[in-house]
Amino acid sequence: MARHVATCLAGMLGDRLDLIVARRSESEAALPQGRGVFLDITDRQAAFDLVESQRPSAIIHLAGISDVSVAERNPDLTWQVNLMGTLHLAHALKAHVPEGTFVFAGSSQIYGSKPEEGRPFSERDLLKPMGQYGATKAAADLALGALAAQGLRTIRFRPFNHIGPGQGAGFVVPSFAAQIARIEAGLQPPVIKVGNLDAERDFIDVRDVARAYSLAVTRAETLPAGAMINLASGHPTRIGHLLDGLIALSSVPIAVEVDPERVRPNDIRSLAGNADHARECLGWVPEIPLAETLRDILDEQRRVVRVAARA
Ligand code: GDD
Repeated sequence: MARHVATCLAGMLGDRLDLIVARRSESEAALPQGRGVFLDITDRQAAFDLVESQRPSAIIHLAGISDVSVAERNPDLTWQVNLMGTLHLAHALKAHVPEGTFVFAGSSQIYGSKPEEGRPFSERDLLKPMGQYGATKAAADLALGALAAQGLRTIRFRPFNHIGPGQGAGFVVPSFAAQIARIEAGLQPPVIKVGNLDAERDFIDVRDVARAYSLAVTRAETLPAGAMINLASGHPTRIGHLLDGLIALSSVPIAVEVDPERVRPNDIRSLAGNADHARECLGWVPEIPLAETLRDILDEQRRVVRVAARA
C-alpha cells in the first residue's frame, strides 16, 4: 500500500513532497524521493519523538495488522498495533503539529455483516464489528472521531477490500494467484486450495485507494472535521466468482478443493459499500476494472515464480 500512495502523492505534489515513511526499511527502495525511518508504533515515546523531530504536515497512517486471520489469532498484539499504535501517532501529531492532518486507513470490517435491507453500507450505518480485527479498527475510528471533536483534522477512511500488486499471500486473491502460478510452473499439483467461496466482498484496486488517500491530503482543508469516507465499488463479488475469473486467466486445467484450515469460523458473509460521499467530497470513483486488477496480480505471482526458479 505504502508504495502506491508514495507514487501517487509524488505525482500530485512533485517537489513539495518530503516523504517520511515510518515503517520497515525493506520498503524504502520502492519509494520515490523517500526517506525511510523505522518506527514501532506501539512505542508511544518513539512515535512522539519522531513526530516532534520531523514535524510532518500530514500523516497517512497505513500501518496495522491487516490480515484478518492473523488478527484473530493475535488479539493482544492487534489491539496494541491497530488501536494504540494509531492513538500514539494521532496524539503525537496533536501535540507537536496541531494544525496537521491525520489520514487513517480504517476498514469496512467495522460495519459487520450485511445490513438487513441488503443495501451497501453507508457511513451512517452503525459500527457492529464481528471479530477482533474489525473491533480494533472500529475503536480506532471512534477514538479519532473524538480527537476531531477536540480540534485535530482527522480523515477516517473505511476502505472495502482493496487488492493489487504487492499484497501479501495471506489475502484471498494473491493466495489463489500464487497457487495458479505454481501450478502453471509444475511446482504444485493442479489443485487449488480454498476457503469459504460463498462469502462476498466489495473489491477495488489498491491504486484507486492510494489515489483517494492522496487526494485527501491535498484537499484536507475542504473536508469536514472528522470526515468518514467509504471507498468501495458498491457491488459485492462472490469469492467463488473471483476464483473462476482467475482460473479462466490460466492456460492449464485446475481443480478446486476446500481446505477446512482456510475456512474461518466467524467469516463475515457479505460486505459492500456505498462510496457516494467519496465522490461528493473528493471527486473519487474507482477507475481500475476488477478484471485488470486480477490480471496484474496473477502476472505478479508468475514473476515471483520465475524469479525464484532462477535463484
Ligand atoms: N485469505 C483467504 N484465503 N481468504 C479466503 C480464502 C483463502 O484461501 N478462501 C476464501 N477466502 C475468503 C475469506 O474467508 C473472506 O471471506 C474473503 O475470502 C476475503 O478474505 P481476505 O482477502 O483475507 O480479506 P478480508 O475480507 O478478510 O479482509 C480484507 O478486507 C478488509 C476490508 O474489507 C483485508 O484486506 C482487511 O485488511 C481489510 O480491512
